[in-house]
Amino acid sequence: MFTTIANLDLTTTQPVVFGAAVDENNTQIESLLPGAEIDAAYKAVTVLPTYGKHAFSQLYVLGLGARSELTVTKLRQLFGRFAQMIKGDFTIELDHFVTSTITLREVAVIFAETMIIARYEFKKHGNFTAKFSQLSGHVVASENVQLELAQGEALGQAINHARTLSNEPGNKMTPRDLAKYAKKLADKYGMEHHILKTSDLLNMQANALLAVNRGSDEPARMIVLKYQGLETWENPTALVGKGLTFDAGGYSLKISGSMQGMKHDMTGAANVLGAIEAIAHMGVKANVLVVIPATENLINGQALKVDDVIGSLAGKTIEVNNTDAEGRLILADGIEYARQLGATRIIDMATLTGACVVALGSAMTGAFSNNDQFMSSLAQAAKQADEKVWRLPLDEAYTEQVRSSKVADLINSPSREGGASIAAAFLQEFAVDTPWIHLDIAGTGDTKSASDLGPAGATGVMVRTLTQLFLNEEV
Ligand code: BES
Ligand code: MN
Ligand code: ZN
Repeated sequence: MFTTIANLDLTTTQPVVFGAAVDENNTQIESLLPGAEIDAAYKAVTVLPTYGKHAFSQLYVLGLGARSELTVTKLRQLFGRFAQMIKGDFTIELDHFVTSTITLREVAVIFAETMIIARYEFKKHGNFTAKFSQLSGHVVASENVQLELAQGEALGQAINHARTLSNEPGNKMTPRDLAKYAKKLADKYGMEHHILKTSDLLNMQANALLAVNRGSDEPARMIVLKYQGLETWENPTALVGKGLTFDAGGYSLKISGSMQGMKHDMTGAANVLGAIEAIAHMGVKANVLVVIPATENLINGQALKVDDVIGSLAGKTIEVNNTDAEGRLILADGIEYARQLGATRIIDMATLTGACVVALGSAMTGAFSNNDQFMSSLAQAAKQADEKVWRLPLDEAYTEQVRSSKVADLINSPSREGGASIAAAFLQEFAVDTPWIHLDIAGTGDTKSASDLGPAGATGVMVRTLTQLFLNEEV
């Protein structure tokens, strides 16, 4: 944890960290260390020894490049690179990172968050805690930014927790494990929770979730968390996360190469849990529901077969011509259950289609919506949160295809062409007239390579955006 102080304390023995731009004279550094050579190019980090001239033995200078060209994205990466270099506690001058478009308060949030996410490590499975060494020290700032530092820290922690859930292998993160974690999280923040088990799912006829679960020895769960941040429980927004703890494809079996990484198929669930954690930690004034249908997608003698016709919680029948298009099946019940619980808006998040990865790669999350106003508030939140979202189309043409079954109301995989839109059109049949956004994070939920913001693996994408959405709507 960092604490704000108004002026640099020259008696500190911790390393001191400054920022420097190429288009400015760095007079403060010059006065502290006359003649010091610094490289202010973007992302250059200069470590200047003070040779006993000061109580602190090192001055770090982070290169901003041209201040006028600095963006939030670049600042994040710069802080991330530094976070991965620095070994112990330090004092940083935050005003050095302010630009005409990035305020001190924004810098403080980004700084605190990045110091946590960039140092994230996933080494050993186990107790659901993100492993990283958290640093502390002083933040020198012309305004008290303690609140912003706390906010950044809350976001960073929630993102790391979401990453750990997703990074856990399938045998350590079963539907029951996910439920156990959700319950622990709910208890920590005094949130109401309901974990629906097989008998509950049978009673209510969550038949699409149960159908996918048939091929698995691990029972399914429907996980519900309620965060009440307003006086009364009215107009909750539901965050529905795909909790597919391992996706082998079912009888439409994946080839082994495509099966790798499918432990991450519950990243939607992990990240909605991350969002509600950040929201609860900050005490955001909003009513938020989390709904997670959770199961594995495997094969055995009871498993769903190709061309089976199944029911669903909403009562619609579905022809399953591809058992690997299972995410939309369990989300159908998740979305319907959110409606039954009174959600007046729904955002679902899912590692749903390879087609979305083909369309957008790992650079952007695909978004679909039946409501332009809702979509634009999410796009605005994503922009503030510095996360990239690109809206993809829903259309009658896709809807016609998902309604084209000869034997059921719907068919789960009518065509591979336009696969991301077809999956979304299928979900739309269950959102019906509730304002709804579908986020396909198949490409953004995890990354194959390490970066300035952390190691390869789960990214915690959209935790920031969802939190920002509710912060923006606070009255
Ligand atoms: N979980 C996968 C989607 C996925 C693919 C996520 C690659 C991350 C990376 C999903 O359940 C799936 O298998 N989708 C199929 C749908 C198809 C059968 C219509 C796909 O995308 O191939
Ligand atoms: Mn699948
Ligand atoms: Zn899947």
